[in-house]
Amino acid sequence: MLRRTVVPPIKSQGIKTKLLPFISQLVPASLSGRWVEPFMGTGVVGFNLAHGPVVMSDANPHIIRFYNAIKSGQVTPLCVREFLEVEGERLRASEGAYYYEVRDRFNADGSSLDFLFLTRACFNGVMRFNQKGGFNVPFCKKPGRFSQAYVTKIVNQVEAVSQLICGGHFDFRAANFQEIIEDARSGDLIYCDPPYIARYSDYFNSWDEKDERALADALSSTSASFILSTWSHNDYRQNDYIDSVWGEFPRITREHFYHVGARESNRRGITEALVFSPDLEPRVAESVSRGCVDALV
Ligand SMILES: C[S@@+](CC[C@H](N)C(=O)[O-])C[C@H]1O[C@@H](n2cnc3c(N)ncnc32)[C@H](O)[C@@H]1O
Repeated sequence: MLRRTVVPPIKSQGIKTKLLPFISQLVPASLSGRWVEPFMGTGVVGFNLAHGPVVMSDANPHIIRFYNAIKSGQVTPLCVREFLEVEGERLRASEGAYYYEVRDRFNADGSSLDFLFLTRACFNGVMRFNQKGGFNVPFCKKPGRFSQAYVTKIVNQVEAVSQLICGGHFDFRAANFQEIIEDARSGDLIYCDPPYIARYSDYFNSWDEKDERALADALSSTSASFILSTWSHNDYRQNDYIDSVWGEFPRITREHFYHVGARESNRRGITEALVFSPDLEPRVAESVSRGCVDALV
């Protein structure tokens, strides 16, 4: 059963908000161990589906710094409101040029508030870094971006996430996935959402066959249960690795539509897949019979 969706204050491409009901079908109602999420991204999956103690990690240290700043009380709803009101006004007065000052400042000192500002003012809400690790997404071209209503929306998202984090057991770590999976044990549930192989890549999202195989080795050796998000096919291409790397594990699929920008014509269909450890298989049979997933392979 899903709680009211907690929407993370940071944005990123590949965010799994719309796939939460699909993923939730594999998540046991209770866990004897921890929720372990080595590719947390915005955190939307763990924030909505985890129960019990949580370990969330990512190779991108900016994400981890941001959530640790919320956890420690360094970033609060109040300070986010003050910051976005002041910086939003500077952005408006500069007709957008100030965005690039904030981007330079963030790339020099990595402030969590600047990170939030950038992910909410950049083009298409994507999170991309150049080969030197610098945030390089251009401005969304809306100088009045931080209206009162938009600031309030972000502040409410920070509030919801801080209540969750401060009321639970959340451990955020900047780490490579292997370290986190090696640390998992029986009773834990590992949810993996790595960059999709053979698709977009940047400083924190380069992902090739070697990485995919290393992830498969790590998940094959763990005594924890696991769920992996990946893609199966679209109208033009097939993900060949789904059989060559993950073929020994069960999987379910579901068609999904991503929107690139606002236009309906930019709606792209893809068949998403969840590969999982065999112990989770009994959870799936019921979903297939209810027609909630397209197929159990
Ligand atoms: C597809 S995104 C995860 C999206 C997330 N599930 C969400 O809904 O927001 C993949 C994430 O993996 C992280 N990542 C890439 N390579 C990694 C690695 N080797 N170890 C750990 N994290 C990695 C990226 O920084 C990125 O945040």
